[in-house]
Order: sequence, then C-alpha cells, then structure tokens
Amino acid sequence: MTVAERILRTDSADDARAAFARDAIAGLSQKQKTLPPKYFYDERGSKLFEEITRTPEYYPTRTELGILEREGRNIAEHVPAGAALVEFGSGSSAKIRALLSALDKLQVYVPVDISPEFLEAEAVSLEKDFPHLSVQPVVADFTRAFALPAAALKRPRAGFFPGSTIGNFEPREAGKFLRHAAKILGAGSVFVVGVDLVKDENLLNAAYNDAAGVTAAFNLNLLARMNRELGANFDLDAFSHRAFFNRRLSRIEMHLLSRASQRVSIGGRDFSFSLGETIHTECSCKYSLQSFAALAANSGWSVLQGWTDERQLFSVHALARD
Ligand code: AVJ
Repeated sequence: MTVAERILRTDSADDARAAFARDAIAGLSQKQKTLPPKYFYDERGSKLFEEITRTPEYYPTRTELGILEREGRNIAEHVPAGAALVEFGSGSSAKIRALLSALDKLQVYVPVDISPEFLEAEAVSLEKDFPHLSVQPVVADFTRAFALPAAALKRPRAGFFPGSTIGNFEPREAGKFLRHAAKILGAGSVFVVGVDLVKDENLLNAAYNDAAGVTAAFNLNLLARMNRELGANFDLDAFSHRAFFNRRLSRIEMHLLSRASQRVSIGGRDFSFSLGETIHTECSCKYSLQSFAALAANSGWSVLQGWTDERQLFSVHALARD
C-alpha cells in the first residue's frame, strides 16, 4: 500500500468548506467578532507560518527545536519501547525529526492534521529517512474524536503536541483538550507537550509584530481565504493587523482592525464593521512552569519532567496519564 492509500480521512473537502462557512458566520455574528485560528492554515497560511518561524523576532520555533535536540535522549526515556507516537497537528515534520533520532525504539508514527497535502509528502520522506518506522497519517481535526490506525492500537502510545499550539486554547479549553488527548492516547500513555512561557512583554509583543510584516500578512490571509473559499468581499486594505500581550489573561491576542466603517458580505450574509472594531483571530496563551503543571494536574495528567532553554523562553513537558 502506498502512503496515499493508507491515509485515514475523516472529512471530505465539501464538509470542510461547509464547516469553515458555518464557523466564520457564527464567529462574525458575535458581539466581539471572532474567527477560529485553525483556519489560518490553508496552503498560503501554512507557508506564511513557516516564514514567521524564520523571522528574527519569533523565538518559539527555534527555541523549542533547540530543546528537543539537546534533550532528545532524556525525552525519549519516557517513551516506552515499541510505542506508537501520535502527533496532534503535525504540519511540517521538522520537530518530530529532531526527536526521531533519539526515539530509536519507536515503531509507528501517526501524524494527525487537517490538511492532507503536507501529510503525504512528509510521510514518504520520513519513511525513507527512518526505515524502521511505519508512518500512518490521519487527516482529521485533532480537537475532535478520531480513530487511530490499527497499528497504533496494539502498541503502547505516546502523544506529541509541540509548538505551543496548546496556547491557542483558553485555559479551560486547554484542559478539555488535555482530557480529550488522554482518552485518545489511553491508559499508561505519555504526552510530550511544548509550551511557550510568560516573559518580558517587549519580547512577546515583538514576536507577534515582526518588522517584515509576515505575521500581519498571516493574519490578513484569513480575510483573503474567506474571499477565495466563501465568496466573501473583504477589502484587505481596509483592515490592519493588531497583536498585543494581554497581561491579565496572560496571552497574546491577535485582531484584525477595521480601518473604516464598512459592510462585508459572506455567502449572502451581511456584516457591518464600525471604525476601529476588531475581529479577534487568535489567542496565544503563555504559561509559567507552575501554571502549566497545575493545568495538567487538573486535566488527567501529571508532569514527569520539564525542560527549558537557558533564557527560559520556552518549555517542553513530559506528562504521564493519571
Ligand atoms: C502555532 C499557535 C503556536 O501562537 O505563536 C504565530 C501561531 N500566530 N504568530 C503562536 C502564531 C502568530 C503560533 N502557534
């Protein structure tokens, strides 16, 4: 069987578009307009995100990679021999690669992602580079229930959730996600989670307001994507990127700010924007080592070990299921 034939799919493209339209209309109908951040990642958005990770201001990706490379052996000690590792929202495979050289006893790798394009190409190249590894991709929204491939069911399981993607959930939702992952991974599993840390606000604000404007383009692409896929008529010049650290809620917020009083239509529905009104497009919650350990403890997991870089910018945690 080729990798393409092996990919498990849960949603058709039509279902995915209908869900996007539903979520967009529901979000824009609220008093504080919102859009779910998972829709950032169409083809263009995924490319822009990769570009963000290379800007000098965006420290999380390179810092986490450094931790995974340096601590790979120690992290791997928590993963049982013969395990299947499930990555929630895999995107590109840079991070799992950093870990795979240390995980020499891993037999099955299950990348789970909503976009199938990446999954297939990465699976082929991973199997070439790690011949002992069987790659079993799943196309699914990892925040919802999905079935694991048979090869993963009969093995001890580990989860991998790097990148501080968990920061996209507000703490209550993050707790729910951790419980959901506990259910999917099962009794006795371990979960390796990357978490961005609270730090100097200037560093945080700069990371989401890069001088080259890549983050702004990433944020605005959400409007372009609604124009492309949902037949909306957003004028991209009439909105601007806003990102700031909200200290009370310990999170970066990204918004798209309306630069005029204007109306926009999406699939026959009209939405009005006043001057200065925003669409809240993303939360990126920041934790301390203590606040993350507390969140895990309230959500079915306990911290086995945590690692950070020398500047304490980012952290990686190994969690054990209670
Ligand atoms: C992929 C959710 C971890 O919150 O830092 C980067 C996304 N948004 N720049 C983050 C993002 C703007 C990123 N996560």
